[in-house]
This record gives sequence, C-alpha cells and structure tokens, in this order.
Amino acid sequence: MSKRALAFDVYGTLIDTHGVVEELSRRIGERAGEFSQRWREKQLEYAFRRGLMGAFVDFSQCTREALEFVDRALGTRLSDTDKERLMATYGQLPAFADVAPALERLGQLRMQRVAFSNGSRQAVSQLLDQAGVLDRFDAIVSVEELKRFKPDPAVYAHLHQRIEADAHDTWLVSSNPFDVIGAKFEQRRFLIRMARRGNHQGAALFGYLNGGDADTAARRRNQRRILRFQTAVIDQRAIGGEVLHPDSSALHG
Ligand code: 2OP
Repeated sequence: MSKRALAFDVYGTLIDTHGVVEELSRRIGERAGEFSQRWREKQLEYAFRRGLMGAFVDFSQCTREALEFVDRALGTRLSDTDKERLMATYGQLPAFADVAPALERLGQLRMQRVAFSNGSRQAVSQLLDQAGVLDRFDAIVSVEELKRFKPDPAVYAHLHQRIEADAHDTWLVSSNPFDVIGAKFEQRRFLIRMARRGNHQGAALFGYLNGGDADTAARRRNQRRILRFQTAVIDQRAIGGEVLHPDSSALHG
C-alpha cells in the first residue's frame, strides 16, 4: 500500500446531498430547495451536538432526526410514508457528475484513494457502489470505527493510522469547511478545500483532474508539479478550490 493517500469526504463532496430535492418537490413544491438546505444543516448540527455530548449514533439517525425537525419547523406535514421515502432517497443520493472521471484519472497517481465519512461504512459503500465508483477506492473509513464525529481531531488521526499512510502525505479533499478545519487542526500537511456551487453546477470541482477547461500546457505543467511534489497538488484556479497549509488560520470556514 502506498504511504500517500487522498481521502475524500463523501456527503457534499462526492455525493450531492441536494439530490433529494426532486423527491421533495413532488411533496412540498417550491419549498423543496429550502427544506433540503435546512435538512442538511440540521443533520450536521445534530452530529456536532452528539459529538460534544459523546452521544454517538449512526449518522443516518442524525439525518432522520433532522428530517423530523425541519418538517415541524417548516410546517410541511409530511406523512410517515413520505418520510420513509425521503430517507430511502437519501440512501441513494447521486454522485456529482465530475466524480467518476476524476477518480479514474486519479488512478494514475500512486496514492491510496479513501472515502472518509461521518456516514456508516454500509451507507457509504452503497452510495459509491450505486454511483459506479466503489472499485475506485482502496478503503472506506467511517467515523463509526471510533464512535465520534468530524471534526473531532481523533477521527483525522484515526484516518491515516487506519490506512497506514504517512501523516504528512495524507490529504483531505472536502467541500465541508468544518471538515477542512478539523483536519488542519489535526495537522495534516495539506488540505484541499473545494466549493460546490449548488446542485451539479460544481462540476468545475474536479475540473483539473478531469482535464476540465484547463489547456493542455497547463495540464502538463500540473502533471509535472504532481510528480515534483510526489503528491496531488491541485491547482486552485482550475478547480475553484484552495490548497490550504496547516499554518493558515484554523478557525474560519
Ligand atoms: C461526510 O461525508 C461530513 O457529510 C460529511 O463526512
């Protein structure tokens, strides 16, 4: 196994958490976008709270409780059948369109590719399988192995220990600021923060890795850069993200 690793956050980075909007629209019409946004925020808030309280549960329970909360808060009066259907849809969320081709290109780098998530191993495996990219990963590391949630520093330490990668060559790719902050706090050498701009419009996220709109010369330059540093330094302009160093400010995002 390579001592170098690229770890990918799952929900929001590889998998589109707003892929549930269509199913919501059939039930609550134009409030679907707002519902989806609040559902995701509350799901994360519940995971943060449970992390602080040391009251770990499967991440899907945070998702379920957040669904109940938002239904009450917005007065949308979803039936039990609606909620079951929405939870089932959440278990089958789509991957962003740029994920599969980017992962294929990444296969050329001799680095471990790891899915690293608050989600259970079973849930992550199902999502990646359905997206047709499960075999692109060398490992799935779930926080359930520690029974703590991101951004607890312990889960980032666990990540590189578990995959036996070098701590200084374990990179996190995440569009969730709290995830990047957590990993920086735990002193990974480099982190890649990427912005997803709404549903599927974030295709530029993996633009560099997919060839994107970067010209050939830029791609070659980037490939040389990868070889020189022997790791995946991804050009921030090409991907619309940032490569962060751990000595930059750790508490905003
Ligand atoms: C994940 O997949 C936090 O949703 C994020 O871990």
